[in-house]
Amino acid sequence: MSYLPENDRYDNKTNYRRCGNSGLRLPEISLGLWHNFGGVDVLENGRDMLRYAFDNGITHFDLANNYGPPPGSAEENFGVIFGKDFLPYRDELIISTKAGYLMWPGPYGEWGSRKYLLSSLDQSLNRMGLKYVDIFYSHRPDPETPLEETMMALDQAVRSGRALYAGISNYPAELTKKASAILKQLGTPCLIHQPKYSMFERWVEDGLLNVAEDEGIGIIAFSPLAQGLLTNRYLDGIPDGSRAAKSWGFLKKDQVAPAIAKVKQLNEIAIERGQSLAQMAIAWLLKDKRVTSVLIGSSSVAQLKDNLASRNNLSFSETELKKIEEILK
Ligand SMILES: NC(=O)c1ccc[n+]([C@@H]2O[C@H](COP(=O)([O-])OP(=O)(O)OC[C@H]3O[C@@H](n4cnc5c(N)ncnc54)[C@H](OP(=O)(O)O)[C@@H]3O)[C@@H](O)[C@H]2O)c1
Repeated sequence: MSYLPENDRYDNKTNYRRCGNSGLRLPEISLGLWHNFGGVDVLENGRDMLRYAFDNGITHFDLANNYGPPPGSAEENFGVIFGKDFLPYRDELIISTKAGYLMWPGPYGEWGSRKYLLSSLDQSLNRMGLKYVDIFYSHRPDPETPLEETMMALDQAVRSGRALYAGISNYPAELTKKASAILKQLGTPCLIHQPKYSMFERWVEDGLLNVAEDEGIGIIAFSPLAQGLLTNRYLDGIPDGSRAAKSWGFLKKDQVAPAIAKVKQLNEIAIERGQSLAQMAIAWLLKDKRVTSVLIGSSSVAQLKDNLASRNNLSFSETELKKIEEILK
């Protein structure tokens, strides 16, 4: 069946925020393809989620060279779906990819050299069948490659037309400042930083959020639901088919039990707010205007629907915030 997106997809179904000081606006919720879009997954399920997202104004899909498993298969699957459904809408989409983690054997298959980053980007474009990506990220800092070399590769990616904007991910605050200075000098300002940020993972509050604001860089928070812990998924144990139950899932079984006492208390607050816990976890991140977008994962359209409805209640009372802080202590 050929896909015709909903005509009302931009009719107040989602909010858009300016990404740092750039001209680009991103949806408050973006969809990531780290899990559930690989060769081990059901392609039609991923396709349904991408269609549902786009129908609801979600214009940003996030990938990386290594997403799968196997590595590369999420980009391949995205390419198939893009070719079938989204080709006519390319100019309405912000598609990102990254390079930094292990992708192929030998000395040029990971980290931050110019050799690796630009080769990887070419491979990603081939897998996805795209002429360019909107955002190309250095996925992680490389302790051995000079920062200048990594940033020059990002600049080159943009200048050569393979990417429209440059981003960095998992860079600590001080290194972000340095990377931003180099990129500004090169004439390709850093658009966006992608850090892990959720109620359970708050390192960005110790400096990175301020640096991003000072430098005019947007923040897109990944794993905002702590890979599913900050939802009702594990309230009664580890269900079959959940990320923690899958051998290839990055959430490990032994990470679930220690979190559950807090999850249950947070869930009570969410219920009082008339929200699901997932919705509250997303709203909690969006209360900070320095956060441009919250980058969720989903394994079904039902989850996506639940998550997108977080916009129905984005504000918190002082009492709610205090209660949440007490639980998170
Ligand atoms: N830059 C980086 O280094 C980096 C690292 C990791 C991720 N990311 C990006 O961030 C994206 C999101 O990461 P993530 O998948 O870990 O995000 P997440 O939103 O924290 O977790 C997503 C998982 O939570 C569960 N879930 C989602 N909504 C739910 C709901 N309403 N009710 C119950 N369970 C729900 C699902 O797990 P089940 O599968 O169990 O249903 C889903 O797969 C990735 O796709 C990727 O684009 C970037």
